[in-house]
Amino acid sequence: MIASMTTATGGFRHEIAGASVAALAKQYGTPIYVYDAETIRRRCRDLAAWDTVRFAQKACSNLAVLDLIRREGVLVDAVSTGEIHRALAAGYPAHAAHQPGPDGLPPAQPIVYTADIFDRDSLEAVVKHGIHVNCGSADMLEQLAERMPGADVTLRVNPGFGHGHSQKTNTGGEGSKHGIWHEEIPDVLRRAEWAGLAVSGLHMHIGSGTDLVHLAEVAEALERVAIEVGRSLTMVSAGGGLPVPYKPGEVHADLSGYFTLWDATRKRLEDRFGHRIRLEIEPGRYLTAESGSVITEVRAIKTQGARKYLLVDAGFNTLARPVLYGSYHPMSLCPQDAAPRGAAEEVAVGGPLCESGDIFTQTDGGFVATRSLPAAAVGDLLVIEIAGAYGFVMASNYNSKPLPAEVLIDGTAHRLVRARQTPEDLVRGECV
Ligand code: LLP
Repeated sequence: MIASMTTATGGFRHEIAGASVAALAKQYGTPIYVYDAETIRRRCRDLAAWDTVRFAQKACSNLAVLDLIRREGVLVDAVSTGEIHRALAAGYPAHAAHQPGPDGLPPAQPIVYTADIFDRDSLEAVVKHGIHVNCGSADMLEQLAERMPGADVTLRVNPGFGHGHSQKTNTGGEGSKHGIWHEEIPDVLRRAEWAGLAVSGLHMHIGSGTDLVHLAEVAEALERVAIEVGRSLTMVSAGGGLPVPYKPGEVHADLSGYFTLWDATRKRLEDRFGHRIRLEIEPGRYLTAESGSVITEVRAIKTQGARKYLLVDAGFNTLARPVLYGSYHPMSLCPQDAAPRGAAEEVAVGGPLCESGDIFTQTDGGFVATRSLPAAAVGDLLVIEIAGAYGFVMASNYNSKPLPAEVLIDGTAHRLVRARQTPEDLVRGECV
């Protein structure tokens, strides 16, 4: 079934952060991911009120991006051995010194491993490097205690409710596998004590791409659990989930109101416990989404009955968010020549994959929609915007397509920060 839905108008776009779209495509080929360093820096600085900003690197884990973010004083979250490896490779120390900082706050751990399980590799990596763990399941406690007796841990708590831009990104409530169920906390605290681990922090993350109304409820839920944990607490984390505007008319969230709410929660806990508490936030999307675009080339234009399709050289192997969640990404056209273009028209935009779901203009449930774009010609470039979070990191080799290149623009310079895969890369490790 095809919905007759249309979405907002995209226009022309010739530059990304001052760099010519045509020149980027010519130099690096298509499809490519392009990130603007200054946008990432600006987003890091927006959150300066928080004691610790911890980047959920799953959103965009290129080493150059991690390095840039580290230089902004932002710490990092790791959800796998691979992400621990990336954090170390980007220059993050494995753990903090033990003394409190000049502000009297307990030290912040540069890298935190947050997960609901230890696979065998990640447990080895945590032990080897002495990385702080945020446990999302109680079974992790004994597994850690056996290898790192006396460690401090953070508990990730599922407060019993959650919210995300899609049911697939809702990480709270009974429908979610994430975190330790809030009613289990007393039992889990006993298990931690028996295992000889101190619970020094609490963390809640209810979902990705939610809104501040839902996020605000987390502070209250966390405060209740913090009181159960008691004086061993020296850190609370608001998790991630900060939204960014994707669609025309959407606006940025009120960050200062959100900080004020959490700061008040933290202060009440400080008064109750009689010591300082570090306040963390753990955004992924907020720091990188708006910095990133995909540049792709229009390779075919065709009409199927009444519907016109632009087929580009990026597919859901390049950017999976539309096929996974029906996500909306703004798009604009960069004509490759000076020939006049016709009036804007409604088109569906799809990629090269042998699968009907390979459509960028689709809504949740897989219904093909259209977008109003300036009339395009084969060879024009299409810029798919706000693709810097959960973009490249969810790209795949489906249909044996190479992973795209990544380019970082910084001021007037740009450079390749990940080479496009080659056909040899695609078969590396295979044998007959
Ligand atoms: N902390 C934890 C424990 C998380 O699981 C996540 C995201 C974050 C922080 C960062 O959330 P953010 O600030 O980016 O909303 N692939 C989906 C998003 C999945 C998010 C998974 N966890 C998408 O493309 O929208």
